[in-house]
Amino acid sequence: MNEPAPRPRPDEVEVVFPEAAELAVRYVELLATTGVERGLIGPRETERLWQRHVFNSAAIADLVPSGVHVVDVGSGAGLPGIPLALRRPDLRVTLLEPLLRRATFLVEAVDALGLTDRVRVVRARAEDHAEAYDAVTSRALAPLPRLVGWCLPLTARGGSVLALKGRTAQEELDENSAELAAQRLEAEVLSVRAYPEADLTTVVRVRRR
Ligand SMILES: C[S@@+](CC[C@H](N)C(=O)[O-])C[C@H]1O[C@@H](n2cnc3c(N)ncnc32)[C@H](O)[C@@H]1O
Repeated sequence: MNEPAPRPRPDEVEVVFPEAAELAVRYVELLATTGVERGLIGPRETERLWQRHVFNSAAIADLVPSGVHVVDVGSGAGLPGIPLALRRPDLRVTLLEPLLRRATFLVEAVDALGLTDRVRVVRARAEDHAEAYDAVTSRALAPLPRLVGWCLPLTARGGSVLALKGRTAQEELDENSAELAAQRLEAEVLSVRAYPEADLTTVVRVRRR
């Protein structure tokens, strides 16, 4: 039996998910139970689901324009796509995930959270998905050159790729700056937080010049 994920202070959940605090709690319960049982979340992660996974993902909301359609590439158990959809009821979100086991969890989670009217699950690899979105998110997907190769074709004119990365994001960007410039891409590292005391989330934003 897995330990339940310790809850953050209720006011933190309210601040990050003002219109969906109960749904965020429900999502974390799903990750800590079904997510762990099906091997989508490591059992040791249950203690840090809120800070390391959910708030970390929700922080990206500040970088997404109003009312747009977002695709979350390699969504896994819904990160960052589901926290983003819960924080931003104005967005439509497509969760793109090729693996059956993960896509099945996503379908069940979207249904359980009552998000089916604006969140859909597509079981496919990025390379095989031929639609364009205003923003393309990813987290722990792939090294930057491969990630850009997968995500840029899904980005509509004027849109951006938002890749959640670890602390070595700037190094990775520096290593690939010549290749990105040759493709006429503008890339920068941004730091955002879900609320003032939350851990920093590092995002690489890539846009066409
Ligand atoms: C390390 S997991 C990260 C999952 C989630 N984004 C997270 O942060 O927990 C990488 C995910 O990318 C998916 N993936 C791998 N290759 C992909 C591709 N070519 N197109 C779309 N998704 C892919 C995998 O199935 C997996 O769910």
